[in-house]
Amino acid sequence: MSSRILSAALVGVDAALVEVEADIAQGLPNFTVVGLPDASVQESRERVRAALRNADLGFPRTRLTVNLAPADLKKEGPGFDVPIAVALLESAGVLPAAREPALFVGELALDGMVRPVPGALAIARLAATAGIKTLFVPEANAGQAALVAGPAVIPVRDLRSLAAHLTGKTPIPPATVSAAVPHAPDHAGEDDFAHIRGQEHAKRALEIAAAGGHNVLLSGPPGSGKTLLARAIPGILPAFTLPEALEATQIHGVAGTLPPDAALLSRRPFRSPHHTASGAALVGGGSTPRPGEVSLAHRGVLFLDEFPEFNRTALEALRQPLEDGSVTVSRAAGTLRFPARFLLVAAQNPCPCGWHGDPSGRCDCPATMVDRYRRKVSGPLLDRIDLHVEVPRMPIEKLAAETDAEPSSAVRARVEAARAVQTARFVGTPIVTNSEMTSRQAKLHCALDADGKRLIAAAVERLKLSARAWSRVLKVARTIADLSGSGGVASAHVAEALQYRMRVE
Ligand SMILES: Nc1ncnc2c1ncn2[C@@H]1O[C@H](COP(=O)(O)OP(=O)(O)O)[C@@H](O)[C@H]1O
Ligand SMILES: [Mg+2]
Ligand SMILES: [Zn+2]
Repeated sequence: MSSRILSAALVGVDAALVEVEADIAQGLPNFTVVGLPDASVQESRERVRAALRNADLGFPRTRLTVNLAPADLKKEGPGFDVPIAVALLESAGVLPAAREPALFVGELALDGMVRPVPGALAIARLAATAGIKTLFVPEANAGQAALVAGPAVIPVRDLRSLAAHLTGKTPIPPATVSAAVPHAPDHAGEDDFAHIRGQEHAKRALEIAAAGGHNVLLSGPPGSGKTLLARAIPGILPAFTLPEALEATQIHGVAGTLPPDAALLSRRPFRSPHHTASGAALVGGGSTPRPGEVSLAHRGVLFLDEFPEFNRTALEALRQPLEDGSVTVSRAAGTLRFPARFLLVAAQNPCPCGWHGDPSGRCDCPATMVDRYRRKVSGPLLDRIDLHVEVPRMPIEKLAAETDAEPSSAVRARVEAARAVQTARFVGTPIVTNSEMTSRQAKLHCALDADGKRLIAAAVERLKLSARAWSRVLKVARTIADLSGSGGVASAHVAEALQYRMRVE
């Protein structure tokens, strides 16, 4: 007898249907699995055999063949244990054949317990679009799978209770959605703007960055507070919206980087990879393509401290995601797209010793060395950074000040108001912030008055702005106007936006 059930494999951050077909025939006891990578086959066979025995469901002592299709789809991970076991039990007549479309995923422990698998949200989304009525997932994944409307999600603890459910003896109640609303950042403490003395110029730039999704480069001597400022950004970003949280959760669910027991990523990610990170670690890829840091930072912050210390090729690989909001990885079986819409916050010392430009005159780096240090980050990459911010060392008197500065919550309120304006502007499009506008949309939404036009024309001349930089300045000006509640973009907004543009030396 044979049977056929559905399961799913992960392809990038999405899932694809897999058919698990089992056949039981007369003959010497033998258990063959076709369609899985060699190493996984051996291990999966052992787990399925032991789990079926230990769950007292019996292991048929005949010729067993399991086929996973399509053959050309790379099927990674142990999530096929449960569907293989169910297919075997169905073809042995132990379990009735499913009457309506169902999908099974789960890893088996030798004692028959079901272990969680990565990518539950991606799998649930696939089930919903494929019209699957019932989705059987490991108990630990059920909360996340239930976030997707459509299929009933059955949480599976172990093989024995799954069998009892499928025979109708003891039905398992479907999982319900639990508190699936991302909460506002409960930010405070050390990372609050209130505790950062002075640095009003840098704080203003970060507010603009947070409001419009514009990239920032912080430059200043060691100890000036660059890392402190960067770490404070999550506290001024707006709360996750549910669609954003779902996008980020799907990526982290596939990458296996969700906090334990979290159904939904409730906070915007803040990723700060070390400068020794490889290009693949930063942008993703590899033989089994994995999301990189840029994708793990999706809808959050990617903080690159000691920016010029990063490997040059790794940095250059950032250009595509910075431009497109996604990473394309090509493979033999076609291309994969990983979402990567993040706020880039980079920090650097102005020179190798760190003190170039400091009033103390402590820097004695030769000019050629300063120059070479700066050139480590290429022009085209710097061009994609909208806000170039000098972070000077704060004098001791200022650092010792008793009074707190404006708290992050107050800044966040303004950021959220500016985001609301953008939400209304981009209704019906996939765009969330001004930074994501195409140049056509920028022309439409950032129409300048005569003064603004004159200002920007002069700047193009003086700063030798590229076409890309010009369009980026417009978008920053739009955000500045949004923060001030202005419908139009005035010359004052353009002037401030230009002030953050890097001077070409
Ligand atoms: N403006 C500031 N207000 C309060 N503390 C500050 C300020 N600037 C720096 N510090 C403190 O000085 C230390 C060094 O700051 P850090 O952010 O690591 O500097 P950088 O990254 O520029 O080298 C930190 O412990 C930080 O708390
Ligand atoms: Mg630092
Ligand atoms: Zn120096």
